[in-house]
Amino acid sequence: MLTLGIETSCDETAVAVLRGEREILSSVVYSQAELHSKYGGVVPEIASRDHLRKLPFVLKEALERAGVELSELDLISATYGPGLVGPLLVGLSAAKAIAYALGRPFVGVNHLEGHIFAHYLEFPEAPPPLLALIVSGGHTELVYVERYGSYRPLGRTRDDAAGEAFDKVGKLIGIAYPAGAEIDKLAKEGDPEAIPLPRPMLDSGYDFSFAGLKTAMVYYLREHPGARREDVAASFQRAVVEVLVRKTLITARKLKVRRIAVVGGVAANSELRARFREEARALGAEVYFPSLNLCTDNAAMIAAAARFRYEELGQRDELLLAPEPSLRI
Ligand code: KG4
Ligand code: ZN
Repeated sequence: MLTLGIETSCDETAVAVLRGEREILSSVVYSQAELHSKYGGVVPEIASRDHLRKLPFVLKEALERAGVELSELDLISATYGPGLVGPLLVGLSAAKAIAYALGRPFVGVNHLEGHIFAHYLEFPEAPPPLLALIVSGGHTELVYVERYGSYRPLGRTRDDAAGEAFDKVGKLIGIAYPAGAEIDKLAKEGDPEAIPLPRPMLDSGYDFSFAGLKTAMVYYLREHPGARREDVAASFQRAVVEVLVRKTLITARKLKVRRIAVVGGVAANSELRARFREEARALGAEVYFPSLNLCTDNAAMIAAAARFRYEELGQRDELLLAPEPSLRI
């Protein structure tokens, strides 16, 4: 069984070929980040056009690396939401056209479920029930995964996503988009206690809020223009990490879940990984971080989710399926 996955919901053009449940024959990701960097964030119209330009080449490369002909594919899939409508349309239309031309089944995938399938791909030994924390530039979601395909969304951000907050604070101290990795690096040289910052919504409910942290930082920098960038990075990162770790672990204890999957671009953060591991151990829970290329946006996770839905749940979507920018899990 060969599944083609296409992912174009934001600023990565990605195509993957998956054999069976978990064998990634190829996973090609072309990032547009540099293109958007000078604007400080993703410009939807530029993203759409660049997906349109790059997708044929990324597709060709993915097939070549997999050593597979288009006609050998058994199932075609693409992300249909959530995301930017223009970018979504590009990948979705391509997938539908391929499925139609080949006469193969088509499955549309929820990008958030896709992120959960990064865990599925890498940790077959750690199946649900599990608690998934999806933290990326676009999302901060806490989801109870009873079994694959069956989700209970618990909480989400009420304003900025965790990664978005990293990117905005990065902008304040002159780091180009996306700023997460650079803040992570700077933070190692800074004092996490240097700047007093709130811990938004730490003890209230399942939702998150990160916009206030950025605002607090704006005010602080206005009064302390000479603040060290390292201290800004370290203090900000500490605040975000504390909130993410504490809220996730409190939830895990409440639901009596022993497995936690942390996925999405922010799962790359070194302090987040260290703190999660440390504090989960004390709770008797296990935390899983997929490898980096599966954490950030990719199409292997989309193909894996599609294969599962098609074979295990009997799903097959119509070619009329429209993009859903605000799709929820
Ligand atoms: O999952 P992803 O590649 O794309 C989205 O779906 O958004 O995540 C990108 C986000 C960016 O906001 C980036 O700043 C953040 O992940 N990020 C990090 C780190 N590496 C990437 N944030 C914190 N620490 C990192 N090491
Ligand atoms: Zn994503």
